[in-house]
Amino acid sequence: MEIEGFLPATTENKPDYCDVDISRKSFWAQPALQMDDVFAHLRAEHPVSWQRPIEGAVVPDPDDPGFWAVVRHADIKRVSHDNDTFVSGQGVMFDRLPPLFLEMALSFLAMDPPRHDKLRRLVSKVFTPRQIKRIDDKIEHATKEIIDGIATDPSGEIEFMGRCASLLPLRMFCDLFGVPDHLVEATVTHITGAVSWADEEFLAGRTAAEVQLEAIAGLHQVAQEIIEMRRAHRGDDIMSSLVEAEIDGQKLTDFEISSFFCLLSGAATDTTKTTLGHATRALSLHPDQRDWLLADLDARVGTAVEEFIRWATPLLTFSRTAVRETELSGQKIMPGDKVVMIYLSGNFDETVFDQPRKFDLSRSPNPHVSFGGGGIHFCLGANLARTMLRAETRELFSRIPEFQTEEPDLLGTNFIHGIKRLPFRFSPQ
Ligand code: HEM
Repeated sequence: MEIEGFLPATTENKPDYCDVDISRKSFWAQPALQMDDVFAHLRAEHPVSWQRPIEGAVVPDPDDPGFWAVVRHADIKRVSHDNDTFVSGQGVMFDRLPPLFLEMALSFLAMDPPRHDKLRRLVSKVFTPRQIKRIDDKIEHATKEIIDGIATDPSGEIEFMGRCASLLPLRMFCDLFGVPDHLVEATVTHITGAVSWADEEFLAGRTAAEVQLEAIAGLHQVAQEIIEMRRAHRGDDIMSSLVEAEIDGQKLTDFEISSFFCLLSGAATDTTKTTLGHATRALSLHPDQRDWLLADLDARVGTAVEEFIRWATPLLTFSRTAVRETELSGQKIMPGDKVVMIYLSGNFDETVFDQPRKFDLSRSPNPHVSFGGGGIHFCLGANLARTMLRAETRELFSRIPEFQTEEPDLLGTNFIHGIKRLPFRFSPQ
């Protein structure tokens, strides 16, 4: 599929497809450590491997020649930092999508300098110290309220993702962007659609493209309503700042603002939710680690949260497109090639992490790549995510130190390492 302005993907100078095939849907439906058995082999033998086109793309492309899988920590960092060679403007996921759709769904995450830098700078400015202070206070308050509702639930049994993990990031997102009560339900529905397009159960016979488009259009509609409200009455939220903000003397368009809303709705919510889900499951499987954490919660919560984020790797992959010839771990990469960074593999790289398969809450330093491998696209919300996770960890595990979980029901996509359901049992207070 040719896309105007994009380099065509080419089969020139490519080796045979790697024998170790990670392109199938069934591969990505496995638990992380099972996938890492395969990545460990790739890290050792084929650090940059040429793979078949991904199965189950949002928009299947008969001309897609495949992709380079980058599995070593050092190579992920190299690709992330070298944004002159590896660009984001031709897509950051497995699919080759038209530019308008890319911007609509991913805003400046799928842009290159100078436009990326201008938008990112503007959005960073909106997170003023005043906003951050306001957010921190709200996080504390909302966390207490959410955990109180669970700890006092007489049934002693909840579905953790829906009743706990999803709530704080969603509330914070809605608060930050001034989403009014009557639009919260629509926002939640569309966020779920935007991240679940590769899950068969969720699709229920519909195509991934249909579900994805409906979700993105729905989020834009919600954003448009908020933009109009904020133009009429300024509030104390980010949307109010964005409608007034200017780049080079020009106001942002409604499309730019709602694309940013769309990016953040997934970036800020599902990732943090996923981290708490995997962390809670791991703590119930490793009571020694839970005891260690609880023995000095305030002092240990910082390193623990960093290990939660490494262990969870909420976003499994992001990709870039090479725009000039280069070499990566001995492989020749040509302009137009898709290069996929597998963060999960980078986070279990035995040359960087001592005993990477050990869930070790005291791990320090912990140079995980869950927020990306550095460079200009490094996660803008890393500190906000850490603050939310620290607050949740403190409140949840001090109020409910004894709990069990059952096998999680995984989302099964090659992008979000999501958990659909996690049964959680505890003794109510
Ligand atoms: C544990 C939670 C989170 C994880 C694991 C995560 C992960 C990531 C990753 C992997 C990237 C892409 C990095 C790259 O391409 O080099 C990213 C970008 C981004 N994240 Fe996060 N994120 C999290 C939470 C958040 C939160 C809470 C926010 C909102 C405030 C946020 C906002 C963003 C934005 C705006 C970008 C785009 C940055 C750019 O392109 O310049 N993220 N995140």
